[in-house]
This record gives sequence, structure tokens and C-alpha cells, in this order.
Amino acid sequence: MKKIKVMTVFGTRPEGIKMAPIIKVMEKEEKIENIVCITAQHREMLDQVLNLFDIEPDYDLNIFKPGQSLTEITIRALKGLEEVIQKVKPDLLLVQGDTTTVFSGALAAFYQKVKIGHVEAGLRSGNLYSPYPEEANRKLTGIMTDFHFAPTEESRKNLLREGYPEEKIFITGNTVIDALKYAIKEDYSFQLPLLNKLDYENNKVILLTSHRRENIGKPMENIFNAINDIVEKHQDVEVVFPIHLNPKVREIAYGVFKDNPKVHIIEPLDYEPFTNLMSKVHIVVTDSGGLQEEAPSLGKPVLVIREETERPEGIEAGTAKLVGTNYENVFKEIDILLSNSEEYKKMANAVNPYGDGKAAERIVDVIINSL
Ligand code: UD1
Ligand code: UDP
Repeated sequence: MKKIKVMTVFGTRPEGIKMAPIIKVMEKEEKIENIVCITAQHREMLDQVLNLFDIEPDYDLNIFKPGQSLTEITIRALKGLEEVIQKVKPDLLLVQGDTTTVFSGALAAFYQKVKIGHVEAGLRSGNLYSPYPEEANRKLTGIMTDFHFAPTEESRKNLLREGYPEEKIFITGNTVIDALKYAIKEDYSFQLPLLNKLDYENNKVILLTSHRRENIGKPMENIFNAINDIVEKHQDVEVVFPIHLNPKVREIAYGVFKDNPKVHIIEPLDYEPFTNLMSKVHIVVTDSGGLQEEAPSLGKPVLVIREETERPEGIEAGTAKLVGTNYENVFKEIDILLSNSEEYKKMANAVNPYGDGKAAERIVDVIINSL
């Protein structure tokens, strides 16, 4: 029996986390030959994901360079992928999400007329500059895609509105929930002593993350200033901030938070301690895409520090709120959640608009039935 050759391509932390469940299902599927190629647009942040899920890439383009520009990432990924695709000759190339690796991967496959499957297709904010450049990456990838794996009905509708044929769109759920089920453990004990020491019961611990390109500069400064003032006003609040490796984010954070003893800036956590931390905190404040999906599933209110989101489902379900990036609004919305227990209760509901943990199986079924 000739196997279906599926090559997965990914490069950053969130792509790794969301692609891992698919790779794990394909590894067990005898009808599929599973080939993994990483661009390594991220290095340390991706390597921890590969270790956790025990994935050994067949090809590692190792393109990461500190301070890399979008153009550099695109050129290095495109060139490296051309050679790998020519060698492997896959029947299908799978990409996940909206990063520059995703767009480059799809373009490299398209140039060689290789079929493309796009995991997490159809998310739209409606603004090409927010998230930037991800909104464009996702749309550009869609144009070249043969199989659109839409996580939700909302994303399917976006694709239909843009004229993609119904038979090419498959609602699968988001594999982020598959990964989350793998990672969350009861009575999880952290390696980092601080995380075991925090009083999650009597204090209100806020989990903060921020890295979006469009927030770097004034918006990020505003957000961090609001957080400083929140911890000053609320004596029982502490903040944990696993900080992105991006030096531009670090400069702003260290500048604004200085040595605030109630804002704990720590190195990026591995996925397992990170998600287990999320399951223990009071609220999440973030501009991350993935966290907007994970927090609702864990019943954690999430304040989204962005002007637009391509993930409206959490907001419609009531667990997420878009609070923008201006100081007054960010301060006000965090303050409300901390002061008003009714508001808090309204948002602290475990809802799962993003999937049931079986997205990877659905995606692999579609591949087997279609190719
Ligand atoms: C990229 C993705 C974004 C995703 C984010 C996840 C694009 C355009 N953007 O963000 O969609 O949400 O990753 O985190 O593809 N760095 C390291 N080591 C690492 C990773 C990053 O040192 O393992 C530092 C480097 O200095 C690097 C900087 O972080 O230059 C930013 O990395 P980059 O991949 O360019 O991140 P973003 O584009 O901000
Ligand atoms: N994450 C992690 N360690 C951290 C911060 C985030 O493992 O210190 C995980 C998180 O659980 C989520 C993903 O990384 O699955 C989100 O990545 P990021 O916020 O970098 O990217 P985005 O989702 O915004 O594209």
C-alpha cells in the first residue's frame, strides 16, 4: 500500500503546540508517512515544545537569527523549504496558523504545485494591520490552500464569505484544546519555587503575557503602566509575567516594571508549567492568540489587550473581553474584575468554543479520506 506522504512545516512556539497533536495522531496512522520539517523561526521557544511532545524533526532549517526581520525570515524559510520539498516530494504540506513560517511554507509548496492543508484557517480580524502581519499571512495562505481546516463555524463562515468552496472547508475544532488536555495535570508541582509559593487561594494572581508587534512601543507601555497601578491599588494582587524572548518586549517591561516586587517577570515557561499555571491563576491579561483559546477552556476570565481580535468566540461566550491598549481602559477593566465578584463570576465559566480535544483526529481523517 502506498502511503500518503504528509509533511508538516512549522517554526514558532504556538505552531509547534498546535501541530503536535496532529503529528502524534499521524505517527500512529499506518496509511500516512509522517515527515516533520521545522523552519525554527523560533529556537529555544520551539525546542521546549519538541521535547515535551517528543517530536524529532526530519528536517531543521535552523533559520533563527536574533533580531530577524520579516523579510529575512521569509527568504530563509522559502529557500530552505524549496530544497526540502524537492527532496521529499510530499503529497500534502500542512501548515498551522498565521506566522511568517506559515506563509512561506504555503508559498514554497504552491511554487512546486504541492497540495496544501491549512490548520486553523479562516480566522479574521478584518484589519490587515492587526494582528500584523498575521492577518495578511492567514489570508495569503488561504488563497493557496486546498484543505481549509477551520476551527469553528465562525471561521468557516469567514472563508465562505471570501468565496472559498464549501467542499474545501472542514470544521475540526482547534488542536490547541487537544494539546491542553495533554498538558494539564491535577496537583501539578512547578520546578520554579516562586510558582509553588504563590498564594493562589487567598491572593489574586494575574497571568500576564504580551508580545504582539503592533503593541510594541506606546501601547505596551500603557498596558504595563496600568498593571503597575493595579497592583498598587489592590494589595492582594500579584502578577506573573513569563516574558517573551523578544528584546524589544524586555526593554519596555524592565523599564516600566523596574523592581516592582509584586510583578514577577520570569523567563518563558515550558508549555506544561505554563498551562498548569494558567489553570491556577485568577485572571489572564494577554495579547496572545493561543491564550485567548486556552483561558476560556480553563474557565479563566481573559482580558485581551488588543484593539481587534480574530477570535470573537471567547468574547461571545462571555469569558473573554477585548479591552484595547489605552491606559484608562486597561486599568478600568482589570479593576472591575478584581473588585466586582458578580462581574468575575459572569466571566469565570469554562466554555469550549474552540474545540473538544478531537481536532487532530478529524484533520487526519479528512486527509486519509481525501488523498
Ligand atoms: C512570532 C509570530 C507571531 C507569534 C509569535 C509567537 C510572525 C510574523 N510572528 O512573533 O505570530 O504570535 O511568534 O511567539 O511570524 N526570540 C528568541 N528566541 C526564540 C524566539 C524569539 O530569542 O526562540 C527573540 C528574537 O530576538 C527574535 C524575537 O524574539 O528576533 C522575535 O521573534 P519573531 O519570530 O520575529 O517573533 P514575532 O514576529 O514577534
Ligand atoms: N506559552 C508557553 N510558555 C509561555 C507563554 C506561552 O508555553 O511562557 C504557550 C501558551 O500556552 C500558548 C502559546 O504558547 O499555547 C502561545 O504562544 P504565543 O503567545 O507566543 O503566540 P500566539 O498564540 O500569540 O501566536
